[in-house]
Amino acid sequence: MFTAKRIIWPFLGLIVVIALSTQLLFNTRDRLRHVEQLLPQPPPDSIHADDRSNNAGKRPPSKHTQTSDTWTYTPSRDADNPGLTSHQCTQAFPSLYKEIDRSVTAWSQNRNHTIQPADTSVSWRNDAALRLLIHNNKLRILQAKHTHEGYRSRTRATLSQINRALQGATVAGWRLPTIEFSIVVDDMALIPARDYKNPNITVWTYNRRDVDWERDRQWVVPDFNFWHTPAGGDWIDAGDKAAGKDAYFVDKIQKAVWRGAVWTLPEVREKLITQTRNKTWADVEEVDWKKGTYVMRSEDLCRYAFVVHTEGRSWSGRLKYLLNCDSVPIVHDLRFLTHYYHLLVPEGEGQNYIKVERDFSDLEEKVQYYLDRPEEAQRIADNAVRDFRERATTVAAEACYWRKLFEGWSRVAWTPDATEMVTVNVTGEGGGEVQEERLRGMPFGEFLLNDENYP
Ligand SMILES: *[C@@H]1O[C@H](CO)[C@@H](O)[C@H](O)[C@H]1NC(C)=O
Ligand SMILES: *[C@@H]1O[C@H](CO)[C@@H](O)[C@H](O)[C@H]1NC(C)=O
Ligand SMILES: *[C@@H]1O[C@H](CO)[C@@H](O)[C@H](O)[C@H]1NC(C)=O
Repeated sequence: MFTAKRIIWPFLGLIVVIALSTQLLFNTRDRLRHVEQLLPQPPPDSIHADDRSNNAGKRPPSKHTQTSDTWTYTPSRDADNPGLTSHQCTQAFPSLYKEIDRSVTAWSQNRNHTIQPADTSVSWRNDAALRLLIHNNKLRILQAKHTHEGYRSRTRATLSQINRALQGATVAGWRLPTIEFSIVVDDMALIPARDYKNPNITVWTYNRRDVDWERDRQWVVPDFNFWHTPAGGDWIDAGDKAAGKDAYFVDKIQKAVWRGAVWTLPEVREKLITQTRNKTWADVEEVDWKKGTYVMRSEDLCRYAFVVHTEGRSWSGRLKYLLNCDSVPIVHDLRFLTHYYHLLVPEGEGQNYIKVERDFSDLEEKVQYYLDRPEEAQRIADNAVRDFRERATTVAAEACYWRKLFEGWSRVAWTPDATEMVTVNVTGEGGGEVQEERLRGMPFGEFLLNDENYP
């Protein structure tokens, strides 16, 4: 066995070298990436030789890859897999769960309070709120509060994301705890003031700010744009389209691009417009959705060397779509954070974006700097691809995050009763009015097809 391996590995090394040179010759960037991902890792015993020399993304998963002690996350194969095991989730995305840890610590240590049913009430919200139950890896809706059309699509997306994460767990043999919680699908949670009758109100939200006193009451979840956004389209489809525009930094349009509405955050977006007006290195325009002027498809932004992100009313879900490009991301100093923003690295070896001031006063200087240094710019773009589109913003990572969140929450919250006693009228033989125990709420599938206000 060992002798055989000693003979085989030098040959495999040769195959990898040949494969790499072939890929370089053909210069197919996507394929090259697959080889690059595979190269630095020492050869685990159970990964087949052909995993290293072929395009692994095109083959069905090897039966060896599910063994937790030898498994290695491989983006080309695993990125769209919502069914990773708990161990695989930890191994593939070790630094993804920071927000969950923060919240668990906040409730178990700082507040020292076990979350109670009343704490997840959404009576303080007029709209855009859900109360949910997870039991036996299945999602049930306990309450859906006045979700007008704008919020309805968010609700459907978020519930679908949770449902996908739950089905993935079942595939992975990962049994999740029974939990009950609430989510606000608005841009901001607007948790009631300190003097509200219940100071322990806590809710899951798409984003939060570090400066807010109520930050510990917010559990940050992946936003609904990981499913769909009107401007960006279906998330998985958008990723494929963006990758279709892959090119080296020097081969992209040598400009910084931005499209959007200004009214959502004039203090930042107007500055961007003025700082870039009439500049040869910028293609920045305000979109008029009604007239359809300056609209640009999400994937076409990827044709530019730099893609600029701006916050909106709050966090703006656009960043993840920009990170689908293999361009250099430019992000201003952010106030709002989402579940993966801590992975943005502004400097050093791991730098994966260019950080600029909120008023974009240093934008020109920085764009010029990197236009003059394409190798440095390429390294940032490559790091961004590795950290986000191949990891943090994948379907695999999103599903992992939800499941780790369900577990984290369960550690500091009460365990709800999944069932309730109800009186039902049974027809037919032996029928009549009977007391029956049944699961609370409405199942996810039924809710999707019903009116969105419930009960
Ligand atoms: C939390 O509260 C419990 C009693 O409710 C107490 O025994 C424990 O010491 C407290 N822990 C901290 C870290 O304050
Ligand atoms: C809020 O939590 C604290 C700490 O557990 C508890 O003493 C207090 O009674 C709670 N308040 C309400 C209104 O539930
Ligand atoms: C930009 O160029 C246009 C057309 O040349 C000119 O009218 C405008 O004043 C310029 N704006 C700025 C801010 O320089």
